[in-house]
Amino acid sequence: MGQRAKLVAANWKMNGNTPDNDRWLRAFRDAPPKCETVVCPPFVYLQQVAAGLAGTAAGVGAQDVSDRALGAWTGEVAAEMLLDSGVTWVILGHSERRASFGHSDAIVAAKMERVVAAGLRPILCVGETLHQREQGLTMAVIAAQLEAVLQRCPAAQLVVGAIAYEPVWAIGTGRTATPAQAQEVHAAIRARIAAHDPHAAAGMRLLYGGSVKPANAAELFSQPDIDGGLIGGASLVAADFLAICAAAAH
Ligand code: 13P
Repeated sequence: MGQRAKLVAANWKMNGNTPDNDRWLRAFRDAPPKCETVVCPPFVYLQQVAAGLAGTAAGVGAQDVSDRALGAWTGEVAAEMLLDSGVTWVILGHSERRASFGHSDAIVAAKMERVVAAGLRPILCVGETLHQREQGLTMAVIAAQLEAVLQRCPAAQLVVGAIAYEPVWAIGTGRTATPAQAQEVHAAIRARIAAHDPHAAAGMRLLYGGSVKPANAAELFSQPDIDGGLIGGASLVAADFLAICAAAAH
């Protein structure tokens, strides 16, 4: 387990503007984190962020990608276009897109095929709602989300990326999963991947996401199967994101 380097990703969601982003990028360059990082702004700011992070070790990530090949798909952004814009990472299957934009497990799997074919690094999000957790369905839901993708893309192809466990009830709510709750699900995710490919499972980075803050990051990241975080709200404030990265760099 010691072989997995920690990874911390900023998911800005639909936030940001040119001057604020510039201030954020300046703060980041002034105190570059010691752990591996990825910054995922909205599409229109990808090139600004790529330019602002040039010369740092940080990667740039998109928050989604089209499941279609290049062509007449108004409003879509293709994997090839992301690569062309300096992007190397893509978030897939975020619960906000699953819940509000109709992204089924099958659509997420189709997007994953595009990401893998283009040579981008995926961050596949999985997670249960509060209702599903209360019904004891947490692992059944996550297993279905994982299997839909693993049926079409072998685990060995996903290991360049990461899987993010984001319990829907912990996103933007201030209600973090306890380190023990998160660890339990992370271990189960790793076991499920190991059933396909033990080598890929050992190397796969499993990120936790959901109300990660500077105050709770270190304890979450100290769990044996938590290899970093996918940070929403706290990633909008550069100092908070850098403090979370510092917790991962220990
Ligand atoms: P918050 O950190 O705002 O809870 O969001 C988590 C998330 O959804 C990251 O993708």
